[in-house]
Order: sequence, then structure tokens, then C-alpha cells
Amino acid sequence: MSPNPRTLVLAAAVAVGLGGSALATDVVNIYSSRHYDNDEQLYAGFEKATGIKVNRIEDSADVLIARMKSEGRNSPADVFIATDAGRLWRAEEAGLLQPAASEYVVSRVPEHVRHPDGQWTGYSKRARIIFYDKADVSEPPQTYADLADPRFKDRVCTRSSSNIYMLSLLASIIENEGEDAAEAWAQSVWDNRARDPQGGDTDQLRAIVSGECDVVLSNHYYFVRGVAEDVPGLTGQTDQIGWVFPNQDTTGTHVNISGAGMAVNAPHPDTAIKFLDYLATPDAQRYFAAGNFEFPVVGDVEEAGPVADLGRFREDTMNLARLGENQALAQEIYDRVGYK
Ligand SMILES: [Fe+2]
Repeated sequence: MSPNPRTLVLAAAVAVGLGGSALATDVVNIYSSRHYDNDEQLYAGFEKATGIKVNRIEDSADVLIARMKSEGRNSPADVFIATDAGRLWRAEEAGLLQPAASEYVVSRVPEHVRHPDGQWTGYSKRARIIFYDKADVSEPPQTYADLADPRFKDRVCTRSSSNIYMLSLLASIIENEGEDAAEAWAQSVWDNRARDPQGGDTDQLRAIVSGECDVVLSNHYYFVRGVAEDVPGLTGQTDQIGWVFPNQDTTGTHVNISGAGMAVNAPHPDTAIKFLDYLATPDAQRYFAAGNFEFPVVGDVEEAGPVADLGRFREDTMNLARLGENQALAQEIYDRVGYK
């Protein structure tokens, strides 16, 4: 991907000493692995509220992480945005972030979706839940553990275990139940598979429609997209799909986040803090969550219509930093049991 021209102009101006402090503090450079329509409103809202110009580079999280690594101290990145705490952890682990949670953020955003040292903050939530074929499943699984029950033999579908969503889910099971229980679970869910993993979460939902799978795991918003937008193979067929928010009587449903942190070499730390604060405001919370049919993290903003229709649920409130810390072990366990 070619560099953002505005970023280059800015860097050049500063390099030759033309900028001065006014120019240098009037922008924020964002590396984002999100690219939803509502994100435009988000950035426009920030520019309007603060007069600070937003420069953006968008790519996958792993590409942006590699880029920040190779740019090193000269990286123009002020803020890194990614989906899944496991990916934010990868950036943190690579030494690419720095503590930046302001008092405002700490007062607005619940503790469990923030890194304990402020390395990153979650600004919207996604739930990883169970979907099932209403016609073929009379007693749907109520827990993640139920997916391992022999009564679902040859009926369960998930995406591949190397995917960050699958790693983070198993990381949460390791945290809640220990390594041995997590391994037994992975082994049994694998043994219950209707087919080897293929495609993303949307493909698991499509496989309910096509009759290949009876019970699947997916992040909630892929289903909501099928209801509210036009997703081939899903839209128009969602009435036959039921859903369960797992573990309501035990740990609560596994949730993850879209989030952001300040880059370790941020050339504009002050505007970066302003942007990170802005993400916690009611307006930004609406855009940030609605852009991907996610749940806001603050208490004073309602979720958007089609998301609200899923119903209320109790979430697991373990600190999401644990997901990153258990990530390598989660992959090891999946590999051990041969979960592709
Ligand atoms: Fe996703």
C-alpha cells in the first residue's frame, strides 16, 4: 500500500523546519485496521469538534504492525486502531504502544475492556455467540461447554483455529477453566465438527442455511449484517437461525473489542490523547459501534436498532488483556488436538 500523501507532506514540512508547533500539533495520524462507513462520520466529527486534522492509513492489523515496526522511531503513527484485544496485544507485545488512558477515558470506559496500564482501550464490543438451525436443533447449546457434548457429534462448525477470534475464545476458556479443561473442550468440539473449518464467520452462518451445519460459532455482528444489509447466502434466510448468548448462568458471554492505543513513537501525543478521549464521547460511541453493528462500551449510549433486537445479555468481565497473554497457549492447545 502506498503511503498516505498527506502524511508525507506533513513529515516533509516538519523535517525542513517549516511547521512550527502549530502545524505539528494540529494533526493526528491514525493507522487503522477498521474501514467501516460510519468511521467517516467519526473522523469528521472529531475534526469538527477539535479542529485537528485526521490523516489515515488503513490496512490489516498485522500489516500495520509490521509497518510500524519497520518505521521504528520515524513512524508517523500516533494512534493504532484494531479489532480484537488479541491484535492490540500483538502491537503491545511488539513494543509499539504506550500507556495513554486519560482520566476521562478511565471514568467512561469499564475497566475490563481497558488494558491495565492504559496501553490500549476498547471502544466497542462484540460478542462471540452460538447460532443454530431452528428446524434441526430443539435443545440448543446454552454454554460453550455444550458445543463439546456428544449430542452435537458431526453438527458443529467454526472457522479455523488460527483465526484471532478462535484464539481469543480459547484464551478466555483457559483463563476461566484452566489449561486441561480448555484442551478437553477443544478436542471435543473438533470431534463434533460437521466439516473441516472453511471461510469466515459469515460462512458458518451460511452453512446453517445450506444445511451443512446445525450449530456454529460467530461474532454477533455477522448475523446482524445478514439481517440488516444484503449478505448473499444469508439475507432473507435469517429467520431459520436461532441464537444463544452462552454462559448466562456461569461466566457470562465471551466478548471482545474494537479498540485503540497510542503509538510508542507518536509524533503528536497531545492530539492522540484528544482523539482517544473523543472515542469515548457519546457521539463517537454511536458511530464507532454502529459502523460494525457492535455494542458501545459506555453506559449512556444505546445500541443501534438491529443490534438491540438480539436482546440483553450478561458478559464475561475478565480483563481482556488476559486474552493476549493466553494467546500462544491457545494456539498450542489447538495444534495439540489437531484442530485445523
Ligand atoms: Fe470481524
